[in-house]
Amino acid sequence: DSPENASLRTPIVAVLGHVDHGKTSLLDQIRGSAVIEGEAGAITQHIGATAVPLDVISAIAGDLVDPDDFDLPGLLFIDTPGHHSFTTLRSRGGNLADIAILVVDVNDGFQPQTIEALDILQRSQTPFIVAANKIDTVPGWNPTDDAPIKPTYDKQSDRVRGDLDERLYEIIGELSDEGFSADLYWRVQHFQRNIGVVPVSAMTGEGVPDLLTVMMGLSQRYMREEMEIDVAGPGVGTVLEVKDEKGFGATVDIVLYDGTIRTDDTIVVGGTTEPIVTDVRALLQPRPLAEIRTESRFERVEQVDAAAGIKVAAPDLADAMAGAPVRVVRDRDIDDVIEEVEAE
Ligand code: GTP
Ligand code: MG
Repeated sequence: DSPENASLRTPIVAVLGHVDHGKTSLLDQIRGSAVIEGEAGAITQHIGATAVPLDVISAIAGDLVDPDDFDLPGLLFIDTPGHHSFTTLRSRGGNLADIAILVVDVNDGFQPQTIEALDILQRSQTPFIVAANKIDTVPGWNPTDDAPIKPTYDKQSDRVRGDLDERLYEIIGELSDEGFSADLYWRVQHFQRNIGVVPVSAMTGEGVPDLLTVMMGLSQRYMREEMEIDVAGPGVGTVLEVKDEKGFGATVDIVLYDGTIRTDDTIVVGGTTEPIVTDVRALLQPRPLAEIRTESRFERVEQVDAAAGIKVAAPDLADAMAGAPVRVVRDRDIDDVIEEVEAE
């Protein structure tokens, strides 16, 4: 890592889509873990966060990605719930995102929360791609685990290929009905003008190399300027969950989306009645590739740079509120910071 790289902000990638279309499974495939198995009724009920380092991305993407082409530290993936009752969490996740993956089950096509997610992305002007998931369920599919899409697609029979094409073009048509011009990702030149559709399977890993390659390309190309802004300034984030942690009492899991947070910082956190002013006691970082929702072994660190999912231990956090802002005070006027937290 050169010092130059150290100042680049990790892009935040939100994963959105209808319930059961495979968002958590896709992240499980990338993480090489099985978070979905720990979910009650296999339904995601909170926003999650997972840091995926660049070396893991380039290992999965294989020949498609040359790590030397990228100076990003990696990607921070935000998992969101697809169940209709979690609209607030979806828009919170969508609003945190720099870029997004909209997951659509190739069998199910567009569903109500697919369209809701599209609205969120459109409103927040977030560049996104579509992961057309579960391609392994096309009848007669002949899988090659973890393969890029091209060779595995070419290997299928004409009938299977035709069947998949039909489903993919249906999704492209549905995107067009919603006002988005879209095409299969390898035909897309400008990912902000046209939405790229990447066929994938969260089960077999097929197409996942392509998906990560496109995400890296998107971040690198369209986010550079934003990622270079003041990454060293006082941290700004959002509370994901308030949780009791053994030995620490109430803690908050946050997504830090700008700046830095340190163990000697005073922070202001939105509370149920009023902003909470408190001093950081410990910063607990999930291991790389661990989902913050399910992580049990956190590492104590002195400082964290955006973007990151981090557990913050501090006194008086019991009244902190999920969705509320978190701001580091550092050398700023504390009343200004309290005002900003109240205004959000
Ligand atoms: P919510 O978080 O509740 O919105 O669901 P989700 O989008 O995270 O879906 P999840 O990953 O929980 O997957 C739902 C179901 O689809 C699970 O039974 C998965 O095993 C299955 N599934 C997900 N992706 C694939 C895939 O690519 N192929 C196949 N065959 N099954 C998949
Ligand atoms: Mg899920």
